[in-house]
Amino acid sequence: MAFWNKKKQPEAGEGPDPSRLPRHIGIIMDGNGRWAKKRGLPRTAGHAAGAETFRTIAYRCRDLGIPYLTVYAFSTENWKRPAEEVSAIMDLLRKYLLEALEKMEKDGFRIRFFGDIEPLPPELRQLCLETVETGSHVAGAKYQINVCLNYGGRDEILRAARAWGRDLLSGRQQVEDLTEETFARYLDSQTIPDPDLIIRPSGELRLSNFLPWQSAYAEFYFTDVLWPDFSPAVLDEALVDFQRRQRRFGGV
Ligand code: IPE
Ligand code: IPE
Ligand code: MG
Repeated sequence: MAFWNKKKQPEAGEGPDPSRLPRHIGIIMDGNGRWAKKRGLPRTAGHAAGAETFRTIAYRCRDLGIPYLTVYAFSTENWKRPAEEVSAIMDLLRKYLLEALEKMEKDGFRIRFFGDIEPLPPELRQLCLETVETGSHVAGAKYQINVCLNYGGRDEILRAARAWGRDLLSGRQQVEDLTEETFARYLDSQTIPDPDLIIRPSGELRLSNFLPWQSAYAEFYFTDVLWPDFSPAVLDEALVDFQRRQRRFGGV
């Protein structure tokens, strides 16, 4: 191989320690629009590029052996965007879900959705249901991707509260039994572990309604890199940074 084709090998100790990786990573996939604008392209081109990054990073997490990845794809607030942009995002979701549906079995992963899929275009909603169904049959899947679609953290908590209230009225729940643990089972995340690390690219320093309940003790990593430019190397930087932190969970 010619010298200019050689990838720089990480120095010893430079990459993340494979024995101390997070069990669950959350990513707010932000910055697609600005990436496109910088190139004089329509915002939709940024979403298309961001979707490619999603595929790369999702496989990278799987290869690292991280069991759960949760990505923020479309928020309850994103309906405020122009109709053409919303529909371009929905088309991309359809495209990538169809691809995932085909590869899930072979590549050993499953997909779940966080959020209320009810208001989605019927065809996409059907595809989501089919994806979950197929994923639930992937034997021995060690990797789960949660796609937040029409997701808002406050909406999630309200939907959980309504479901709990219905169970209270029907006698399946008792007020005395309401704990953080029993309530969490009503959330979209159900029993999966809370995210250890939440990554937000694009330079914004906020959660934008992403996993407010589950992120109570998450570590945060912010970078100015725009999502379409996010690479496995940037993920490594986030993981190395995460591994330098001391998590105390209120203890000493
Ligand atoms: C994130 O990128 C994708 C979605 C919210 C669907 P943006 O579209 O928010 O990109 P910026 O923040 O405008 O650059
Ligand atoms: C958060 O990004 C939602 C997703 C990445 C899907 P936004 O771009 O919608 O967030 P704000 O508007 O900058 O807070
Ligand atoms: Mg944004």
